[in-house]
Amino acid sequence: MIRTRIAGLGHYLPERILTNAELERMVDTSDQWIRDRTGIRERRIAAPHETSSSLAVQAARMALEDARIDPATLDLVLVGTTTPDGVFPSTASIVQDRIGAVHAGAFDTSAACMGFMSALATGFQFIATGACQRVLVCGTEVLSRIVNWQDRGTCVLFGDGAGALVLEAAEFGGPLGFVLRSDGSKKDALFAEGACGPRDADGNGPAEVLRYITMDGPAIFKFAVHAMANATREALERSRLTVKDVDLLVPHQANLRIIQGTAKALGVPMEKAVVTVEKYGNTSSASIPVALSEAYWEGRLAEGQRLVLCGFGGGLAWGSMLVEYSQTGVTPSAAPGAPAGASARGG
Ligand code: ACO
Repeated sequence: MIRTRIAGLGHYLPERILTNAELERMVDTSDQWIRDRTGIRERRIAAPHETSSSLAVQAARMALEDARIDPATLDLVLVGTTTPDGVFPSTASIVQDRIGAVHAGAFDTSAACMGFMSALATGFQFIATGACQRVLVCGTEVLSRIVNWQDRGTCVLFGDGAGALVLEAAEFGGPLGFVLRSDGSKKDALFAEGACGPRDADGNGPAEVLRYITMDGPAIFKFAVHAMANATREALERSRLTVKDVDLLVPHQANLRIIQGTAKALGVPMEKAVVTVEKYGNTSSASIPVALSEAYWEGRLAEGQRLVLCGFGGGLAWGSMLVEYSQTGVTPSAAPGAPAGASARGG
């Protein structure tokens, strides 16, 4: 059976930091409210010249350098994003060109905050079937471009960033089980209209305000904890493992209380959870790969660890994936001097 190693990890956050204190001067909110309700202290905002593709390129270069892999040997470039550079070409095609992945196919996956999880599941499948040897998977967003900066209910939550993983066929590592779900009947709980929506009798598209993120916060909050916890239980069952086997929880970073609620519902101690939401806010498709890459570079990942990646977002869409982490791709017992649990290169 073909398995998958995570050969390299990278992330990129724009330089500009937007603090809660600055938001206090923009809308009727307070640092206290934002920290108490969400855990967020600050978030990053893309510079005018930056786009989802340019952020992803930075993250991808870091991951490729880490993997010591020539981009010309990539077979596929996948980008999860809800804020593509344009309607077309795909953001993945732009990334493919800029990194020099001259032999790769490229496409985007759009599933709101589940965009990266969908891209990662796709990448794993391409490798498991033998169709690809090397796949770059990115999650990237410039949510600041679709946030209504006059709406205090949403503008305090979101930020920009990108993360990237290089996957390679191996004998060890990769997904043990995953669950991807959607309930399109709840689409009105969280949406942003695009350029191609329905027109009224006069040919007018949606009002400008509907092109921004529109959200029923409390409804999403209640849904998020159950959705991530239940999907994780199901992914564990499919893998014939239990919560005790989980070494690290890497959840979508929307709200600290949602992360704490999910960890509690699963019975996973918070020390095992990766949390970046206080620094970056909700970066949608970028949040899980950024959190995973930061954990790696901080030395928190080790060969053979079982990681739970779980998320939720507009759709509504949600899911969970149990991944056996390996950078070497070598079965632990077969690797002299590299027992399971040995530190990976990051840190
Ligand atoms: N500052 C101050 N007060 C605020 C703010 C703000 N920024 N925003 C809302 N309030 C007020 C509300 O108006 C309300 O006032 P009222 O009681 O006088 O009516 C009060 O605070 C409480 O509002 P709630 O919405 O009930 O507060 P809640 O505790 O639910 O927190 C929040 C709101 C943070 C949005 C929370 O519901 C949440 O995180 N929901 C999930 C959001 C999410 O994860 N979205 C995913 C997006 S992913 C994607 O696909 C793009």
